[in-house]
Amino acid sequence: MDHFVKIYKTQAAAYHALIAAEDVDGNLLPALQAITPLAGKRILDLGSGTGRIPLLLRGLDCQVISVDLHHAMLVEQRKQLLSQAGRLVHADVRRLPLDGGVADIVIAGWAIGHFTGWYSQAWKHEVQKTISEMERALKPGGAMIILETMGTAAEKAVPPNAPLAEYYALLENELGFSKQVVATDYDFGSMERAAELTGFFFGDEMTDKVKRNGWSRVPEWTGIWSKQP
Ligand SMILES: C[S@@+](CC[C@H](N)C(=O)[O-])C[C@H]1O[C@@H](n2cnc3c(N)ncnc32)[C@H](O)[C@@H]1O
Repeated sequence: MDHFVKIYKTQAAAYHALIAAEDVDGNLLPALQAITPLAGKRILDLGSGTGRIPLLLRGLDCQVISVDLHHAMLVEQRKQLLSQAGRLVHADVRRLPLDGGVADIVIAGWAIGHFTGWYSQAWKHEVQKTISEMERALKPGGAMIILETMGTAAEKAVPPNAPLAEYYALLENELGFSKQVVATDYDFGSMERAAELTGFFFGDEMTDKVKRNGWSRVPEWTGIWSKQP
């Protein structure tokens, strides 16, 4: 089984411990709010996982619909948000079981990028199907937002590999998205915890790098692509 699929099926709590340490400076929410005001909006969060985006939006009186392919991730999201959890939909973002025009804003955070590794030559087609579903789900005048990594433990923000670079170029050059980059560093509190949690998700090379640098704070860059069709 693919490394990431295994995590999403069986290690949702550990995944959440990793992402809960990210964005220590709180740069994400202001960046999203600068694209479009979020308060009071109906938001569709695709590949919602354990609820990073719904947790970010807590207190903004948004109505969130969270979609994810892996049941264990949604179970963890319910645990994290308790009574504040919105509607959880166990589904594939490439075929949304939702009516058109359901959301003011459609967000997909760190999810679509996986397609470049999972669907070999067909990934562009799968990305385009997902973007079409995002457009279909959007109310007129709404906004689409895609977040993806621009590098973990990297000095500068650059796409981490060639397929992701191609996917980001597709968003910008063919699909009409605008891009910005924000720093979303992790702070794990200790080097040991940083090595453990980054290693679990990103692999042994990352563990070695964290230990070599003595990092408890690990640099991370996030690309934010947005479009208001
Ligand atoms: C890196 S996690 C991101 C989760 C969350 N958005 C966050 O920011 O932490 C990727 C998520 O995308 C979900 N996912 C991947 N492919 C999907 C698909 N085709 N349909 C729905 N969810 C998918 C995975 O199950 C996983 O929860």
